[in-house]
Amino acid sequence: MAKFSPPPGTADIFPEEMPWWYRLEETARRIFPLYGYGELRTPVFEYTEVFRRGIGDETEVVQKEMYTFEDRGGRSLTLRPEGTAGVMRALLNTEVMNGSEQRVFYLGPMFRGERPAAGRRRQFHQVGVENAGRIAPELDAENIAMLIQYLDALRISGTRLLLNTRGVQADRKPAAELLSKYFRQHLDAMCDDCRERAGRNVWRILDCKQERCREVVGNAPDYLRTYTAASRMYFDSVCKLLTAFGIDFEIDRQLVRGLDYYAHTVFEVIHPGLGAQNAIAGGGRYELYLPENRKPIIGVGFAAGLERLLMVQEALNIPAPAPGTGPVFLVSRGAPARTFNLKLAQELRAAGIPVVVEIEERSMKGQMRAANRVNAAFAVICGDTELESGRLVCKEMQEGSQKELTGTDLRDFLKKAYGVEC
Ligand code: HAM
Repeated sequence: MAKFSPPPGTADIFPEEMPWWYRLEETARRIFPLYGYGELRTPVFEYTEVFRRGIGDETEVVQKEMYTFEDRGGRSLTLRPEGTAGVMRALLNTEVMNGSEQRVFYLGPMFRGERPAAGRRRQFHQVGVENAGRIAPELDAENIAMLIQYLDALRISGTRLLLNTRGVQADRKPAAELLSKYFRQHLDAMCDDCRERAGRNVWRILDCKQERCREVVGNAPDYLRTYTAASRMYFDSVCKLLTAFGIDFEIDRQLVRGLDYYAHTVFEVIHPGLGAQNAIAGGGRYELYLPENRKPIIGVGFAAGLERLLMVQEALNIPAPAPGTGPVFLVSRGAPARTFNLKLAQELRAAGIPVVVEIEERSMKGQMRAANRVNAAFAVICGDTELESGRLVCKEMQEGSQKELTGTDLRDFLKKAYGVEC
């Protein structure tokens, strides 16, 4: 174990990186309420059954990637590998099963025991939304529009929106039979895993990454023709609405998504600049079963991976969030000034202004360096002369300009600079 490293696939996030994270989070908190969504916070762990039943026993996530442990009472718990199942568990306490629509969004860490790679973490962060309780193509299209608005607000360009439909349960069997018949004729050209999948789960072949399988998959028959007319019409309506909204998309029959709860529309936003882990967001319409619930909860939603959004922003050279939001740094020259500054710091904080105050006897240069380290927007300098005259020197750190202000003027000036009510 490397002594000071966190476990593989996890990372510490330091204060200087936070403005980037805040921007992703604050943008979510600004955009999603425009569509009537409110924030929901669920626990980071749930009873294991919630995920096994919700996501599906057959999925890679449940079979290979969950962090599952027993608590002291012998109950099996699991760190959430995704948000949807837990959110639905929480919404069962609402009227969602009686047709009342619920609109929620969430932010937070998720955990999957995957092999760490660029863009693939064991603890990663998602922002997600769920619209539960109703089914309508309008809701699917609105959901996708909301994701696109979120990405636009983050100035993420160059993405591709992939779209497909998984149909409903009744559509799957004839479609799987059609695919299975085709794949059985091409077993020789496929990888070992897919040969085995051909008999068990043909859908998994569709997203196999092996070059030889991609070729076979590329020529597979279009299974949509086996779907019922109602399912095809549903998908058609979603596509038409997206076109009406001016949203570009590509239909991708190979997009099946790795979680079992999807029904009807599925989508993914990919960014070519990211390499193998190129999905920055994914989602779709679902019918999700929970333990002891014989009827599924229906809904539509998506989640975006925050680490991947940051990687794309970096690749696109998107500038750091606006500077000048750092604190006021109070520089003291001598003990009496320090005592004065400690009191002034409390007054300014009480007024809503962020302040860092130097508590040690240090040179002026050392204190200015410290101000830069905390990304201070202003440095306010106080020594014996300033104490006597009652006028403090306030230096604007970015521009380097400075002015002398009395205590009251200084407070008013800083309140204005930080947008605090006077
Ligand atoms: P997902 O496609 O599994 O969907 O994950 C959504 C996003 O989370 C991915 O597109 C990716 O950006 C990010 N992500 C997933 N795994 C990792 C990882 N190991 N490291 C870094 N980022 C990762 C879901 O989770 C569904 N619950 C989405 C949804 C909501 N469907 C309906 N409602």
